[in-house]
Amino acid sequence: MDYIREYETARLLIEDTLQEEFLKPGLEEAMRYSLLAGGKRVRPVLTLKFCEAAGGEPSEALRLGCAVEMLHTYSLIHDDLPAMDNDDLRRGLPTNHKVYGECTAILAGDALQSAAFRTASEAGLRFRYPEAGLEAVRFFSEAAGERGMCLGQYGDTTVPESERTADVLSEINDLKTGALLKAACVLGVLASKGMRSVDAGCIKAAETYGIYLGRAFQIRDDMLDCLSTETELGKPVGSDKENGKATYMSLLGREKCEELVFEYTERAKLALKSANWAGSTGFLDFLADELAKRSS
Ligand code: IPE
Ligand code: IPE
Ligand code: MG
Ligand code: MG
Ligand code: MG
Repeated sequence: MDYIREYETARLLIEDTLQEEFLKPGLEEAMRYSLLAGGKRVRPVLTLKFCEAAGGEPSEALRLGCAVEMLHTYSLIHDDLPAMDNDDLRRGLPTNHKVYGECTAILAGDALQSAAFRTASEAGLRFRYPEAGLEAVRFFSEAAGERGMCLGQYGDTTVPESERTADVLSEINDLKTGALLKAACVLGVLASKGMRSVDAGCIKAAETYGIYLGRAFQIRDDMLDCLSTETELGKPVGSDKENGKATYMSLLGREKCEELVFEYTERAKLALKSANWAGSTGFLDFLADELAKRSS
């Protein structure tokens, strides 16, 4: 099976599972609106494929992957609020607060975050070795909160333009974007560890892959904010500039960004070589390369 088809198979598995969630009117409708609006599903695909690389079946990581996507969707709903990036379009549709109002959008984000941890805990309880589930929930919460994504979003919205050097931006990006991508990878390995013994080096390799993938991913995101179109991205372009946010693009320019995306992608792929994987890591190499040249 070629890698594009593998991506599609994993993505569809995730879509089908998410379709079953949040069916009630009211708050659940607002949660469902953003969760099912599309999106690349990069993070849950990573969870499924890291589980497979670590010797499991992708389906064994499905619930953990969906939990990561719920948390990611919450972060997007809040990221688009007027108090943060103030954006009107997301995943090709009006943003959550444009449709349901700010109050409901805040609550839909909050509730998606809680649902993410419920879903992850339920997944862990079904493991043969539930300690791996507990490890997953702990890692996930660290990545999401004041040591991870939230701290990164805090930095991104409070560090003044004049202090946004390349080093500071790298720190912010590792937290706001890298932390959750890293967790998506590690949770995949832990899903496999919930059922069988896994080489200890796999967790470390997944972490390093995730952090470098995150660096490349956010620089590419900043490039697309300058170079792409709203139709292609499904979200506004020029948002960073409008918010007075220096990014790698405004700081270093397109050519240097391209170099950095390439360099971090190579480092991500290299990290995989440091562990003994029970399955193939070919798809993970492919995905890193695809994301480096993505256009949406
Ligand atoms: C957007 O993430 C937010 C960033 C961390 C840059 P994605 O580019 O993965 O957005 P979706 O999930 O495909 O909509
Ligand atoms: C957001 O970064 C990262 C999150 C944690 C949501 P951006 O603000 O650049 O993401 P987009 O461009 O709105 O998707
Ligand atoms: Mg933002
Ligand atoms: Mg934004
Ligand atoms: Mg952006």
